Amino acid sequence: MNIALIGSGGREHAICLKLHDSKLTKKIYCIPGNAGTAEIASNLDVDFLNFKKLLVSIKFYKIDLVIVGPELPLVKGIVNFLKKNKIKVFGPNQYASQLEGSKSFVKSLCKKYNIPTAGFKICKNIKDVKNFLTTNNFPIVVKADGLAGGKGVAICNSKKEVKNFSNEIFSGKFKTSKKLILEEFLKGEEVSYFLIVDKKSFSFIGSAQDHKRVGENELGPNTGGMGAYSPAPIINKNLEKKIINRIVKPTLKALKAKKNTYTGFLYVGLMIKNNEPYLIEYNVRMGDPECQVIMPRLKTDLLKIINASLENKLDQLKIKWSKKKCMTTVLCAKGYPGKYQVNKIINLKKIKLDQKSFIFHAGTKLKNKSLVSSGGRVLNITVTGNTFLNIRNEIFKIIEKINWKNGFFRKDIGWRVIKSK
Ligand code: AMP
Ligand code: GLY
Repeated sequence: MNIALIGSGGREHAICLKLHDSKLTKKIYCIPGNAGTAEIASNLDVDFLNFKKLLVSIKFYKIDLVIVGPELPLVKGIVNFLKKNKIKVFGPNQYASQLEGSKSFVKSLCKKYNIPTAGFKICKNIKDVKNFLTTNNFPIVVKADGLAGGKGVAICNSKKEVKNFSNEIFSGKFKTSKKLILEEFLKGEEVSYFLIVDKKSFSFIGSAQDHKRVGENELGPNTGGMGAYSPAPIINKNLEKKIINRIVKPTLKALKAKKNTYTGFLYVGLMIKNNEPYLIEYNVRMGDPECQVIMPRLKTDLLKIINASLENKLDQLKIKWSKKKCMTTVLCAKGYPGKYQVNKIINLKKIKLDQKSFIFHAGTKLKNKSLVSSGGRVLNITVTGNTFLNIRNEIFKIIEKINWKNGFFRKDIGWRVIKSK
């Protein structure tokens, strides 16, 4: 098959490598891809949010299947558009993508179907906010309703903070919506749980934990993710049953009740408190950097799994996993998640990786045949192995060899799983 893979992050490089390894793949086009995907696929410089232009390229390159990596095109309806134009595409439709695109949609669904989640109120104005403040304790979580690129959530410790952030949302700081959600703060351990879903069933496609804060000891501002590891030891059979029965099944049932079914990856973001799962958020895609630690552990052909989902035959496929563990550390440009410089040369020529190690590119591109940085999160140094401690030491060795003077990384990725050993 000729495949188009939409996106340009570490997640897409990890997916691209799996597709590259598949016997079913003929040619892969990454739209737009990065310098890493360019080594194993052809990058196309096409704006994937311009659906009409995208369609022209898809037809020109005789693409048999489009796989969508990031959330924005899904929320904007890329699946509906391509299907209408008779192009085979993997991902949820626009209605189902509201699971990520609208927090008020998810919270209302949770209420209707009794899905465990933090107590909340959907607010349309500052009066609604003030009412919530009279009856709830701090901290309070304030969330912009629509997509906000990870910047639309604030954990507030005073009335003043809640009112300030709420006013920013109401005045249109996050353009997609002026509604907001106030939530009770849940204290527990966060975990990312992944499924691949078709019209009839769903299959487990990995668990992971990521580190969102920029600084060691979980300090500093939120980022897209500074590192991750898989599997997440907090997930056990008993907990998994609760996640499926109390959260996933009612959600898929709710979509079906609206004559909509879900096809694609589903990221269930959870807070675990006393072995009880609470839904924090859904994402309608794989996580980044979680995908980078899940793909290296996957033994079944990814394209075979995606095809099974598109044919509603996931229930007939057994997905196999390596027993190895995997961890990734993100090498970022200095200054991230604030201002950082781009176009800084990175020299990977001397780096020889063995079969258990990968460097997934994120913000990289080729400029005059040199590899340069083009984003805040630049490389994902990823290693598989038997213990997280050994894996992390291997990651450090690779980062030392790369010796990129413009970068920084967190040295404590996986502290939960390494400290307890
Ligand atoms: P969200 O965009 O909803 O995933 O929120 C971003 C991050 O904020 C989550 O990954 C959590 O770390 C944190 N968070 C969100 N909601 C809550 C909550 N109700 N209680 C505690 N932490 C939360
Ligand atoms: N790692 C968090 C996310 O992909 O949203």
